[in-house]
Amino acid sequence: MVKRNPNMAKLTAGYLFPEINRRKREYLQKNPGVKIISLGIGNTTEPLTPHVVEGLHHEVDRLSTREGYSGYGDEQGISDFRAQLAAKLYGGIVKGDEVFISDGAKCDIARLQTMFGSEVSIAVQDPSYPVYVDGSVIAGVTGSYDQSRSQFDKIVYMKCCLENDFFPDLDNQPRTDLIYFCSPNNPTGAVASREQLKKLVDFARKNRSIIIFDAAYSEYISDKSLPKTIFEIDGAREVAIEVSSFSKPSGFTGVRLGWTVVPDQLKFEDGTPVRNDWNRIMTTLFNGASNIAQYGGMAALEDEGLAEMKSLVSYYMENAAIIKKALDARGLVTCGGINAPYVWAHFPGRKSWDVFSEILEKCQIVTTPGSGFGPAGEGFVRFSAFGHREDFVEAIKRLEAL
Ligand code: MLT
Repeated sequence: MVKRNPNMAKLTAGYLFPEINRRKREYLQKNPGVKIISLGIGNTTEPLTPHVVEGLHHEVDRLSTREGYSGYGDEQGISDFRAQLAAKLYGGIVKGDEVFISDGAKCDIARLQTMFGSEVSIAVQDPSYPVYVDGSVIAGVTGSYDQSRSQFDKIVYMKCCLENDFFPDLDNQPRTDLIYFCSPNNPTGAVASREQLKKLVDFARKNRSIIIFDAAYSEYISDKSLPKTIFEIDGAREVAIEVSSFSKPSGFTGVRLGWTVVPDQLKFEDGTPVRNDWNRIMTTLFNGASNIAQYGGMAALEDEGLAEMKSLVSYYMENAAIIKKALDARGLVTCGGINAPYVWAHFPGRKSWDVFSEILEKCQIVTTPGSGFGPAGEGFVRFSAFGHREDFVEAIKRLEAL
């Protein structure tokens, strides 16, 4: 018999989103025929946009000819695409060869966890995207289990709540090797200001830590005073890696395309550039993003593609405004939904899963329970802005039953 990987046994529960689906299926079994509105997982719903589709088609056609066909490409991505991405999305503050194209931010996070190994300590915003903690535990980042806090001692939860404007109290945080930070935040929808990100970068520089900055929702920022990338902050190139994705701005959740930026200046303790090890990981464990998807990405970064991206983002942000207004009108305290496609609603004194069940029973709406994102998410539920407009119009009527 093969021994089970002990790290798998250390995971606290099943992955959050399959559990939500399980409960949704269970509800449907008991209530067949009911139309459920899903405002749970942040899964895009609107069709791919015309210019992007043209880019995808064009590459499919090229691959169907003997002259145009290509097999494996560079594992790091098509070099023109890398340069285009650095220029168009980063205004040249990062270089093309610091951009590594991939099949998505979540997969890159898992590969980063493989690269950093089991010896590191980590800090996460609490609440946060479950992959940071679960992926780290799978990679062996645990240490011993502290019964009194119900937490592993190599994992630090940095509380982000209404009282601290969803930004951790860095003056009272212990040093960790890695700091996961997501802005615009999933799940709270909070967006860190320039001053806040400067504090974060200064904290990482002081502690010689590395920030893994998740910018998957950056295109949802419309307020020009808010930073869209950690690399807008002085000194970030020495302490940060950024992961991002075409999933949420271009509807590529199924197409699969993302990227990671590893700046030249970022070094390990022994002086090895992190970029070298990342290149080793990508060339060893990954065979490059789909060439078709990459051409779709290139089309998304052309002027027509960028205009389409903007209107797709606006569509989802109007959904966010609709749901936020309805929740506010019910007297709930909400955060997010502005510059971010998630609305984080507070139900003081309640358990998140109880609120999830109540909304499912009374309104036939699926949400995401805040406690699934970490202990500080208890008492909150998350509403996603990804969905068809008519479902949001219907959802706000149904919420009156709450
Ligand atoms: C979420 O709903 O939190 C995310 O969309 C899931 C994901 O991006 O993997």
